[in-house]
Amino acid sequence: MDLPASFFILHSGLKREAPGDAESLGWALDLARTPARARILDAGCGPGADLALLSDLRPGADLVGMDLHAPFIDRIRAEQPHVTALAADMLVPDGQFDLIWSAGAAYSVGVEVALAAWRAALKPQGAVAFSDCLWRSARPSTTAQAFWAREYPGMCDLPGHLAKVEATGFRVIGARWLGDAAWQAYYDPLEARIATLRPKAEAEGDAEMIAVLDDNQAEIDLWRSHGADYGYYLTVAVPA
Ligand SMILES: C[S@@+](CC[C@H](N)C(=O)[O-])C[C@H]1O[C@@H](n2cnc3c(N)ncnc32)[C@H](O)[C@@H]1O
Repeated sequence: MDLPASFFILHSGLKREAPGDAESLGWALDLARTPARARILDAGCGPGADLALLSDLRPGADLVGMDLHAPFIDRIRAEQPHVTALAADMLVPDGQFDLIWSAGAAYSVGVEVALAAWRAALKPQGAVAFSDCLWRSARPSTTAQAFWAREYPGMCDLPGHLAKVEATGFRVIGARWLGDAAWQAYYDPLEARIATLRPKAEAEGDAEMIAVLDDNQAEIDLWRSHGADYGYYLTVAVPA
């Protein structure tokens, strides 16, 4: 999907591009028994919020971030020079890892494709921990269905998700839904940025920017009104 320039103006400067927080990341690290001096890949790392959290939670770790969007990688290199940041395809990981972490990025290539690629890049005791958006309700609202049909047409429910993980040769060792704090860590700064950009866009009649602001605000409003219909599911799994 080609995103308009206004999308990148809105999203530039945000710390994260998907729900997540330190509490759930720490939970995954502990469950995966990720060692203090682990080699950890953040696959589809975006602007690097989780790399900063990983630096706090595992200060002795060797951290690698991979993302196709070069401006994210430039920013990580500037802000987190201890991280190896690569503008490259996360499906071709750079070496072997104790943990492959990925927040909200597997959907873009398909969970099965991502897991198959990451499986080959795990050290013997290695694990993957990744989040993906799933239906929580058996009867989601038509509003939520219409939004996610555009954003993530292949979005499945929990049994479908677990079947995908097992079909790629992984065993789930723990999983949980992300809580409101993880969503707010993404949406609160995004909403503040929408409010900052809107007066200028409206004064200049910038139709493209106004459409992007409206779309993003609608996504946030949908979560507030129908967020019980769906959620981000954090899965920690090891090769079976
Ligand atoms: C929804 S964003 C989440 C970013 C980040 N994990 C976070 O939580 O802020 C998904 C990211 O995956 C990246 N991405 C998608 N496909 C990729 C691929 N094949 N290789 C590397 N990065 C990819 C996108 O550029 C984007 O930055």
